[in-house]
Amino acid sequence: MLLEKTEEVKKNFLNDLDSVNDNESIENIRIKYLGRNGIVSGLFDKLKEIPKEQKPEAGKSLNLLRNELTSKLEELKSSFGKGKKEGGIELDLSLPGRKYHIGSKHILTQTLDEIKSIFRGMGFSVYTGPELESDYYNFEALNFPPDHPARDMQDTFFISDDFLLRTHTSPVQIRTMEKMPPPVRTIMPGRVYRNEAVSARSYCMFHQVEGLYVDEDVTFAELKGTLVSFARQFYGEDLKYRFRPSFFPFTEPSAEMDITCFICKGSGCKVCKQSGWLEILGCGMVDPNVFNYVNYDPEKYTGYAFGMGIERIAMLKYGITDIRVFFENDFRFLKQF
Ligand code: PHE
Repeated sequence: MLLEKTEEVKKNFLNDLDSVNDNESIENIRIKYLGRNGIVSGLFDKLKEIPKEQKPEAGKSLNLLRNELTSKLEELKSSFGKGKKEGGIELDLSLPGRKYHIGSKHILTQTLDEIKSIFRGMGFSVYTGPELESDYYNFEALNFPPDHPARDMQDTFFISDDFLLRTHTSPVQIRTMEKMPPPVRTIMPGRVYRNEAVSARSYCMFHQVEGLYVDEDVTFAELKGTLVSFARQFYGEDLKYRFRPSFFPFTEPSAEMDITCFICKGSGCKVCKQSGWLEILGCGMVDPNVFNYVNYDPEKYTGYAFGMGIERIAMLKYGITDIRVFFENDFRFLKQF
C-alpha cells in the first residue's frame, strides 16, 4: 500500500515540476512535498500504522523518495540560480536589455566646432580670454567714451567699480594685441553676459565668437570676402546676404551682416519683422584709436574685426525660435542634434 502511494507521490511530483519557472515555484513545491506538513511527512506518519515486519522496507523506500525529491529540487534550483549575482541580487535573464543613452555634444559646442574649423581653414588661430573683465578691457581700450550707454548698469553686470562680467568678446582683441605684434589673425570664442530681461530673443548669458585680423594693407573688401566665405561654408552656397552700415566705438567704418530669413526665405514674416533679413554679426575696420591703446602703429597697420553670437548663428541654421532652449537641458531638445 505504502509502496504504491510512494510511486504515486513521485509521479505527481514530477508533474508539478513541469510548471516550475523560477526559484519561487521551486520553493512552493518543496513546501508541498517536503515541508513539515507536506505530503512526504504524511507518508512517514503512516509508517506507524503498518505491520511491524513491513516497516523496514517501507521506511527505506520513503527515505529514498525523500532523497530523490530533495536532490531533484536542488538540481533545478541551481539551474535557475545561474542568474544570481554574487551579492545575492537576482537577475531575470528573460528581461529585455537596458538601453544606454550615449551622450553627444551640445548643439552650441557643435556649432562652435564648425565655426572654428571653417576659420582655421582660412588661417585663423583660436584664443580665449577671461569672462571676468576690467572696465579697461571691456570698454575703455575699445574706445567707448566714458558716458557711452553700454556702460549703463542696465546692460552690464558690474562686480565692483572696476570689474564686470564681459558684455562681449571684443576685450580679447585688446588682450591678444597686447601679447603679440602684427600680423594677428585669430578668432576668440567665449561666454558673455548682459543684464537683459530673459525672453525668447535674449538671455542674460550667451556665447560669441570674435574675429580679428591685423596686418599691413588689410582692407574692408577682405573683411567682406572672409565673412561671405564663412557664411557660405556654414549655411550653404546659395546663401543670400547683405552688409548694412552700423556703429561700434571700436570699428570705423562699421557694418552688420544680414542673411535671408530662414523661416520665410526672404518674403517677410514675424521672425524677421517682415524685412526678409536677419542680422548675424557686427563687424568693421579696427578704429585707429584702438591701435593706440595696444601700441600698434595706426599709420602702418590696418585690420578688421567681427563678432557673432553663437546661439543666433545656430538658431538661424536649425530654425530654433527660442534662445532659452539652449540652456534648459531638455533632453527632447538636445537629442535632436
Ligand atoms: N562686440 C560687438 C557686439 O557685441 C560685435 C562686434 C565685434 C562688432 C567686432 C564689430 C567688431 O555687438
